[in-house]
Amino acid sequence: MRVPMIAGNWKMNTTVSQAVALVNEMRHELNEIGNIDKVVCPPFISLSAVGELIKGSSIKLGAQDMYFEERGAYTGEISPLMLAELCELVIIGHSERRQYFNETGEIVNRKVLAALRVGLKPILCIGERLDENEAGRTAEVVTGQLRSSLVGISDLNGLVIAYEPVWAIGTGKAATGDWANETIGLIRRNLAELYGKEIAQRVRILYGGSVTAANTSEFISQSEIDGALVGGASLKSSEFLSIVKQTSEIRG
Ligand code: 13P
Repeated sequence: MRVPMIAGNWKMNTTVSQAVALVNEMRHELNEIGNIDKVVCPPFISLSAVGELIKGSSIKLGAQDMYFEERGAYTGEISPLMLAELCELVIIGHSERRQYFNETGEIVNRKVLAALRVGLKPILCIGERLDENEAGRTAEVVTGQLRSSLVGISDLNGLVIAYEPVWAIGTGKAATGDWANETIGLIRRNLAELYGKEIAQRVRILYGGSVTAANTSEFISQSEIDGALVGGASLKSSEFLSIVKQTSEIRG
């Protein structure tokens, strides 16, 4: 009943012309794949150009971050209102933002609130670091991040969650399907406690961390996993297309 989603997080890769070339390579084929939400998240400066190329198609556009204020003297920042004009989704709280740019749970919460206020759909990222995982603290960390991100949010409509264990991101060491499924199940149980079972069953929860065409089926065939947030593999059109196609076939 939950429509699967595959989102490509291009991170700080591609110039505008490279972004245009990448989306041109895959947009026609991507457009044809049904029963699934397909999202590309290029860097801010390519949102307009990519948006023009996928206009009228079934491909959705997402940003990788945003500031929580709507306007004002915040040199260099991008506001929710600016994004709302261009795209439908926005990644919030990615572990790289938390790790390199000191984003706290409170900042992530403010961003989620700000995105929902202007009708942007947040892809909220949560996940434990390697040391936390090895110390057996995954459930505690993931629960804490989830709950702090959702303070003051009564309506989860549009919200997507991505479970991205930090140790699996960009390392080539993906989590196992069983591990991701179990942790995503825990996230869903937390949502049920906070918002009731029915709403929890409606929220899409993705897995992210070294997803490739070769391991997609391991994740997508799991009952709790609704898709993937893909980093490196989303920069190769053939690889991304294969991930999307497999997901559509397994879940369609
Ligand atoms: P990789 O797929 O490159 O591991 O990145 C995952 C990620 O961080 C997506 O947001």
